[in-house]
Amino acid sequence: MYKILTLNNISVAGLDRLPRDSYEVASEIRHPDAILLRSHNMHQMDIPDTVKAIGRAGAGVNNIPVSNMTERGVAVFNAPGANANAVKELVVAGMLIAARNISQSWSYVQSLAGDDESIHRQVEKGKKQFVGFELPGRTMGVIGLGAIGVKVANAARSLGMKVIGYDPTITVQRAWQLESDVEQALSVDDLLSKADFVSFHVPLTDVTQHMINRDRLRLMKKGIVLLNFARDGIIDDEAVCEALDAGHVYAYVCDFPSNRMIRHPRVVALPHIGASTKEAEDNCAIMVSEQVRDYLENGNVTNSVNFPEIVLPRNGGGYRISIVNSNVPNMVGQISTDLARANLNIMDMLNKSRDEIACTLLDLDREPPAATLEQIESIDGVLSVRCLGCD
Ligand code: 3PG
Repeated sequence: MYKILTLNNISVAGLDRLPRDSYEVASEIRHPDAILLRSHNMHQMDIPDTVKAIGRAGAGVNNIPVSNMTERGVAVFNAPGANANAVKELVVAGMLIAARNISQSWSYVQSLAGDDESIHRQVEKGKKQFVGFELPGRTMGVIGLGAIGVKVANAARSLGMKVIGYDPTITVQRAWQLESDVEQALSVDDLLSKADFVSFHVPLTDVTQHMINRDRLRLMKKGIVLLNFARDGIIDDEAVCEALDAGHVYAYVCDFPSNRMIRHPRVVALPHIGASTKEAEDNCAIMVSEQVRDYLENGNVTNSVNFPEIVLPRNGGGYRISIVNSNVPNMVGQISTDLARANLNIMDMLNKSRDEIACTLLDLDREPPAATLEQIESIDGVLSVRCLGCD
């Protein structure tokens, strides 16, 4: 029986991928094999030694101590792309909210009083304050062209905008998905100096923290609209509020309210609802539950942020050893020597590495003795050894 601890509400559609006859899933559970979560902050958490995998039902993993988990040999998974459409739709809404002064117009209407005739009069008198502008012909800048950024760029193109993108690490797959007339910016600064709207789709890292600061705000065209549905901290709130007050930035639409911004008249701050649609919640939970299950049962790794991709088909069950070790020379040699000593025959084998971590999957002709597993576990650099299919 595998034990799964949930730290946030995870969609039932996803949890249903963990059959109840072999999985116990609960928000309070001792000695979990894996943890499923959304934005719960795990940084101060005492993560039990029994944990082998963490599944983030979403994209961002800055709430998870990933490097610490890597050192412990714990695989961290996420669900890239599973909530991309939800975020894209909210970015499009954010552009329209800003361009048409929708939140200010709405507040104005809510402030009206009197009979219907008086309200109609106030509506016609007041509407001139809310004259907006249209999107076609304006330039949309997209920083970060992953699953979400590509969808945002293509949506902006279909709204008649010119699109300029920046992502020095774009993958071939994402480049194929991007509309062919999306222009490539040479740098963040190049993009910022050309755009009328900028949307951010990068994770929060040391490099992206306060990527938008006073200096960069000065590079932008007057009247720019900034959209942040990526992460709190990418934009310096204080600096952006000053630029809004000075009339240099037209509007800031984001998913990360702070005290400084909540009541600013040119800020529309939403309660981190970018991925909060039924569809996105289901997609993320299904994707990450299946990945965690495949790792627990077969040692296969798909969409991990710290482990190499490794998938070895399980031909008819049998005995599989799944080993996680430091990516240093002579690990496979030492492991196969231990197996040979026990007279075990390797039927199939795969070894993959990524940065400091390597994973090895070995299918054997018979159940390995506990002593052999212990021997492998004692090899310097081996972080975890699991026998899948053993009693
Ligand atoms: C993500 O990183 O996927 C988004 O920020 C969504 O976070 P949530 O799952 O907490 O809504």
